[in-house]
Amino acid sequence: MSLSQTFYQHLVLVGIPVAAIQKGVLMRVGIISATGPAGQAVALRLAASGIEVQVGSRSLEKSQQIVSALLEEWSDKNLALLPATNEQACDNELVICAAPAEACLDVLYKLRNLLEEKVLVSMVNAMFLAGKQLHPWIPARGSMAAEMQALLPKTKVSIAFQHLPAGKVADIASTLTADVLVCADDVTARNATMAMVEKVTGLRALNCGGLANAGPIEQMTAVLVNLNIIYKSHVTLGILGL
Ligand SMILES: NC(=O)c1ccc[n+]([C@@H]2O[C@H](COP(=O)([O-])OP(=O)(O)OC[C@H]3O[C@@H](n4cnc5c(N)ncnc54)[C@H](OP(=O)(O)O)[C@@H]3O)[C@@H](O)[C@H]2O)c1
Repeated sequence: MSLSQTFYQHLVLVGIPVAAIQKGVLMRVGIISATGPAGQAVALRLAASGIEVQVGSRSLEKSQQIVSALLEEWSDKNLALLPATNEQACDNELVICAAPAEACLDVLYKLRNLLEEKVLVSMVNAMFLAGKQLHPWIPARGSMAAEMQALLPKTKVSIAFQHLPAGKVADIASTLTADVLVCADDVTARNATMAMVEKVTGLRALNCGGLANAGPIEQMTAVLVNLNIIYKSHVTLGILGL
């Protein structure tokens, strides 16, 4: 374990609001199911912000192919993207889940032992297509994050990145400007997630409290995607008045 990782873990353990202190401290995160558009986009954006990212997949070969293609496409950027299995991606204090809603609980259950005591950042949304509109799909516990927390009681679940359009996030030649709504029941998990988000230039992490708010945040994504469909746009969310 590197000195920076030890330092970062210490900050998380003592519950210091790390967002302000985090600047300049290197960190590594793993992303489960990072080979889709959303996972690749977040991997690129975090790596472009100086974070080492393990690009997780069920198949190491698939991850290697995707990482090679991304490094070739952005060869001028010196990105620390590393191929990994989903299991290897769990070997980090902070692990992001970028699996689709219908598969994520199955994927995470297989990784449950590796995720104990870790911060698991869900970027998962649940939606379904009804005609030409996307509707939010509401899981039994109110949100995908609440489902994850119930499935993995020894893991500290938070949410972030739900509202960021993958295409815009992946274009690391352009600045991304957005507010990112973060919530978690565990305060240290929320602080660590916000610190990671704030490493990305142009993103502002907003503390939205506990996981009880994950449902409305996830459901809001369907509204934003419908705006994109209706206005042929790629909107991001901004909160006024703070
Ligand atoms: N697209 C966006 O703009 C956006 C924005 C914010 C949040 N999100 C959320 O981010 C998540 C990922 O979105 P995405 O469009 O990137 O998803 P995706 O392409 O459908 O899937 C991502 C990865 O999940 C793994 N996977 C797919 N089906 C699986 C299955 N049945 N069992 C196990 N693993 C499976 C695959 O990775 P391997 O084959 O490599 O294992 C796949 O590459 C979703 O929950 C979405 O709601 C998306």
